[in-house]
Amino acid sequence: MIERIQKLIEEVNALHAQNAEEVEALRIKYLSKKGEVNALMNDFRTVPAEMKKELGMRINELKACALEKINSLRDALQVAEVAGGDIDLTRTPYPVRLGTRHPLTLVKNEIVDIFSRLGFTLAEGPEVEDDWHVYSSMNFADDHPARDMQDTFFVEAHPDIILRSHTSSVQARTMERQQPPIRVICPGRVYRNEAISARAHCFFHQVEGLYIDKNVSFADLKQVLLLFAQEMFGTDTKIRLRPSYFPFTEPSAEMDVSCTICGGKGCSMCKGAGWLEILGCGMVDPAVLEANGIDSTQYTGYAFGMGIERIANLKYQVKDLRLFSENDVRFLDEFQSAN
Ligand code: PHE
Repeated sequence: MIERIQKLIEEVNALHAQNAEEVEALRIKYLSKKGEVNALMNDFRTVPAEMKKELGMRINELKACALEKINSLRDALQVAEVAGGDIDLTRTPYPVRLGTRHPLTLVKNEIVDIFSRLGFTLAEGPEVEDDWHVYSSMNFADDHPARDMQDTFFVEAHPDIILRSHTSSVQARTMERQQPPIRVICPGRVYRNEAISARAHCFFHQVEGLYIDKNVSFADLKQVLLLFAQEMFGTDTKIRLRPSYFPFTEPSAEMDVSCTICGGKGCSMCKGAGWLEILGCGMVDPAVLEANGIDSTQYTGYAFGMGIERIANLKYQVKDLRLFSENDVRFLDEFQSAN
């Protein structure tokens, strides 16, 4: 009986089939009720007890071989059918649903794109910074109240190491690396210790611009900002510069754009004013140039900085700042885009 089983195992291992019917015939021959395996099971009852263990194992082995062989013959036929059959493997696949870019990324990309067309290149710096790059090199005196104004986060046990509260630190990092002409645009995340609400968050995003060369004037700054505003919000957009103060620019200004909703007539978006504030700017203070190793008798420059959330709010009328960082897919799905 052992030899019969051995012969059957060899026979099973050598099986082949041309089509599904042949596979089914083999299944019936070996594995059905009246098949070879069951016939052996019947004979098994009559064998002496001391042979049962070995015979039982051999029959199980045969059964497993037969099952595996028949299944693999069936699979091979299916693969052959797919490859040569009715399925068109050259057909374009069903479209894969793409994710969406984050609205802040869309706005950042648009801002960077506009300035890169004006000749600005990208510069980046670390979010965990030292006091020098964020404040001292930017002309903030040690006891300057503006340091409080920016609600700095300190890294515990290191009063000198902080989370940057504005991207102006990248101005310093760029100037220490490079002599003029400098024309960079620096997007990045900044941190301020503020209670989280619909209108404030402990982190947000800015884009900084810096241009230093010979004979750079306030008129150059104004023209570049006008071009930016018109690219960003439409060609009818007007700008207005109001005097302001920043430690690192002199003179300094804040820029408004004509309301993106009412165009200047006055509406709830601009609270009747017709203007919306979007950025801070000014001529780089000569003290900043000197602190960063640039000769202020030869070079002048301008800088500007804006909040990406602010611009995104104006573009998409997002009422609650927290939506930008909560990753609610219902919100993110609103920003389908191709880029
Ligand atoms: N750093 C300023 C802020 O965070 C913005 C600014 C940048 C103003 C560059 C002038 C020039 O508010």
